[in-house]
Amino acid sequence: MRIDLFLVPVPNIESQLSDKTLVVIDILRASTTICQALKSGARAVIPVMEPGEAAEMRTKIGIETTVLGGERNGLKIEGFDLGNSPLEYTEEKVKGKTIILTTSNGTRVYNRTAASKLILTGALVNISRVVKRTAQAGNDIVIICAGQNGDFSIEDTLCGGMLLHRLATDEKTEMELNDAASLALLLYRSNSRTLKQTISRGEHGRYLTKLGFEADVNMATETDSMPVLPILKDSRIIIEET
Ligand code: MLT
Repeated sequence: MRIDLFLVPVPNIESQLSDKTLVVIDILRASTTICQALKSGARAVIPVMEPGEAAEMRTKIGIETTVLGGERNGLKIEGFDLGNSPLEYTEEKVKGKTIILTTSNGTRVYNRTAASKLILTGALVNISRVVKRTAQAGNDIVIICAGQNGDFSIEDTLCGGMLLHRLATDEKTEMELNDAASLALLLYRSNSRTLKQTISRGEHGRYLTKLGFEADVNMATETDSMPVLPILKDSRIIIEET
């Protein structure tokens, strides 16, 4: 199976997604927040690019049934119901609702995925579900790490590396990797025992901690704590039932 990992969402990535399984990874924090929202019973998460677009969509879908969530520079957007802290997405706040989510990096990737066959949200909190589903689908795989404003981020690369490691070891997948995927695998294998520390010491981990979101960083590093499988269908992220 051919697996290409992108350390950041590069230009023209769309042309490489045809008939592939795509895994979008932004563990701090969009992917983790999406998993948490769906685990808490949200009907769907709709990823959008800009706050204005989110507000327009809310008017279209209905104010009563939607929740506006998202961040800029890590902080809740003015006028929104929730920020991008997974801890905010409790049953009480999101059960039965459609979340319209806009974040600085993670939700932007979903706008560029149309050609893919299967589009999954990957995080450490749901890694085993992603490993199984990507292996079962049997398509070639593209992993897009959302990164941070066009730069590489260590936490997304580690998560991508863990996915590759588990495909190789648990699923016995024969993998033909691009160099970024090989790098992610090496990075994961040399840090697998210290994932939490490595992630919390990374640039975005430190930034979130400085803003008071240390608990989010801890939550995002809890492997398999949210066994949900978010898939994008018709521009909405929903849970795939098994
Ligand atoms: C993003 O999309 O850039 C992140 O989820 C930012 C964050 O809230 O930490």
